[in-house]
Amino acid sequence: RAKVPFTNEAFVDFSQEENRRAQEEAIAQVRSELGRTYPLIIGGKHITTEKTFASLNPSHPDQVIGHFASATVEQANEAVKVAAETFETWKRVPAEERAGYLFAAADLMRQRRFYFNAWMIFEVGKNWAEADGDTAEAIDFLEYYAREIMRLAGDQPIPPVAGEDNKFVYIPLGVGAVIPPWNFPTAITVGMTSASFVSGNTVVLKPASTSAGIAYQFVRLLEEVGLPAGVVNYLSGSGSTIGDALVDNTNVRFISFTGSREVGLRIYERASKAPKGQRWLKRTVLEMGGKDGIVVDETADLDAAAAAIAVSAFGFQGQKCSAGSRAIVVEQVYDEVLSKVVEKTKAITMGDVTQQSTYLGPVVDENAMKKILEYIEIGKSEGHLVTGGGHQGPGYFIEPTIFADVAPDARIAQEEIFGPVLAFIKAKDFDEALDIANNTEYGLTGALFSRDEKRLERAYADFHVGNLYLNRKCTGALVGGQPFGGFNMSGTDSKAGGPDYLLLFTQGKSISKKR
Ligand code: SER
Repeated sequence: RAKVPFTNEAFVDFSQEENRRAQEEAIAQVRSELGRTYPLIIGGKHITTEKTFASLNPSHPDQVIGHFASATVEQANEAVKVAAETFETWKRVPAEERAGYLFAAADLMRQRRFYFNAWMIFEVGKNWAEADGDTAEAIDFLEYYAREIMRLAGDQPIPPVAGEDNKFVYIPLGVGAVIPPWNFPTAITVGMTSASFVSGNTVVLKPASTSAGIAYQFVRLLEEVGLPAGVVNYLSGSGSTIGDALVDNTNVRFISFTGSREVGLRIYERASKAPKGQRWLKRTVLEMGGKDGIVVDETADLDAAAAAIAVSAFGFQGQKCSAGSRAIVVEQVYDEVLSKVVEKTKAITMGDVTQQSTYLGPVVDENAMKKILEYIEIGKSEGHLVTGGGHQGPGYFIEPTIFADVAPDARIAQEEIFGPVLAFIKAKDFDEALDIANNTEYGLTGALFSRDEKRLERAYADFHVGNLYLNRKCTGALVGGQPFGGFNMSGTDSKAGGPDYLLLFTQGKSISKKR
């Protein structure tokens, strides 16, 4: 199977009656499972804790998705200990066998596609298409990393040296603390976790508390495909309690994190310490935020640009690090692009995402809602509110919001809001627009709409982002074809779903034997 070339999983076509019905049945299924209590899973043991926390449905915050075990610091350390013991056997399992678990997990996830979609619809408020894209990406990561580890397994090609036999191989690192975000609760959780263990490492997986249920479904799936106990340990709980404990633990060899810049920097600093007894420099793979810009010049297809701006800004309520939260438009076409985007934005449907017809769901929780509403207040003094700005309860719904005439260094043009808030910025010409686009601490995604080949080439060279898109939206990178990850404060320049990724979870060993 590893020899069959990788291809991306197709998205489900919900206009087909059969698919629509399957999704509705899965929604009914998950609805019937709401409110259960879930344990920690350490070394295959299911452990309940006295203290639990609830994950809520952001569309209806009075609906409890599940009660999750709140691990203690002692349990975090126990999970690392079990993972370290398991590493001694897991590291000797052949790469092909490790890859086999990923292929089996991909197959089972395909069977459960609608079920995983439904979990995301309930727990984080994804609409049907966004949820389905997330599950498809998770399957892609499993299929891709399974093939990648086969490419990296065994002797790597190196030039010969006279009189000696030389080998170069990649070996695993050890125990990884894997801390994924809630915004791609299946895809990124599956990607970070599977990259870690397929490379021969063992994992303590600390899910985001707002998507603990989705991560649990994945860990259960790994149990079902027979992944040995202790390879992936599930440790739910408060980030402020167990997050530091995992990062600080001297038996942890690497930390793989995706989330906010604030938490990423905290991990980076703490991981740089090497207290007595720690035998290595911890490796960190950190994927943080973005303040991504879409540039439109006067030669562009303005309808295509407007459609891409709206989708990039408001898809999944703008809660993507790849979201296009800045539209940077040259003055000649600024008013026209703005009015086209406003028109599209006003047509967006908002509400409970269990309904197929809903486009915009709620933001993930009350804290997110408060933070976004604060930014909307700030925006009112930094630009003109042209549409949206309101909140509709009882769920955490925020209208898709556009501010026009925002200065390039305004707070809403510089700080990641992680919500449905778009800043329009006027530039006098293309060169200035590109400067504005690059005027950020981040460097994750960016797009340029232009029909001028020279400008497209200029962007190719000078638009400083990890993922550059020409004449298309700036979200929705595909595994394999569009390795994903950014520059500068967007993280450690890692590229998920790309040919360099597994190198971050391994270390090279050179072996030289005299003839
Ligand atoms: N990979 C996602 C995208 O490209 C973001 O994490 O939109």
